[in-house]
Amino acid sequence: MLDILKPLAHEQILDLGCGHGTLTQQIVPLCQRVVGVDASENMIRHAKSIGIDARVVDGHSLNFDSEFDAIFSNAALHWMLQPEAVLNGCFRALKPRGRMVAEMGGCGNVAKIVTALNAQREQRGRAAVMPWFFPTPQEYTGLAQHSGFAVQSIQLFDRPTRLPTGIRQWLTTFAHHFIKDFSPVQGAQLLDDACESLKPLLIDGDNNWYADYVRLRFVLLKSDISN
Ligand code: BEZ
Repeated sequence: MLDILKPLAHEQILDLGCGHGTLTQQIVPLCQRVVGVDASENMIRHAKSIGIDARVVDGHSLNFDSEFDAIFSNAALHWMLQPEAVLNGCFRALKPRGRMVAEMGGCGNVAKIVTALNAQREQRGRAAVMPWFFPTPQEYTGLAQHSGFAVQSIQLFDRPTRLPTGIRQWLTTFAHHFIKDFSPVQGAQLLDDACESLKPLLIDGDNNWYADYVRLRFVLLKSDISN
């Protein structure tokens, strides 16, 4: 992703959904200034502790005006369920001719995991939920263009990703939306059962767990590349 971003020494860069700031830290030495934003106070506390100019800001409410040469975002945009608001804020935050380089979960991302979790919900008489936004390239192209961007490139591709600590840990970290209407004991049982049903689908011959990640990667430009 940083190879695509290609930060230049004089540039100001916004890392949208910077999390703990691990990737942000790699951008810092490559350009003049990096600002990291994330909706999570805990994550921003950590990013600040490693020296990043980091701020608690919800991606739906970006309030920057023509400040940045580039916006970078990795594995964050699928948490933001109102993409129009996010893209409008990104467009406004960029200087003219600025670029947005991002990767997020795309259509089909973690589909086996979502299906397993929702099957467990439905067995317990609860409706299916979908806490993430995983668009197709066509859908995201339309949204980006509506916000004023030109789409320089956009690709959807599979990236099965090894989970060194296994799927149960992944579910504990990320699947809280699927169990928040259950008691803690019932929720833990739901995750155990989903985990069991995923064994034949996401464990390889060497007994390693994989998440069925699908990535949507794109470069958007605040300019008209049609002429
Ligand atoms: C991801 O694709 O990076 C992801 C999706 C859902 C939860 C956590 C991570």
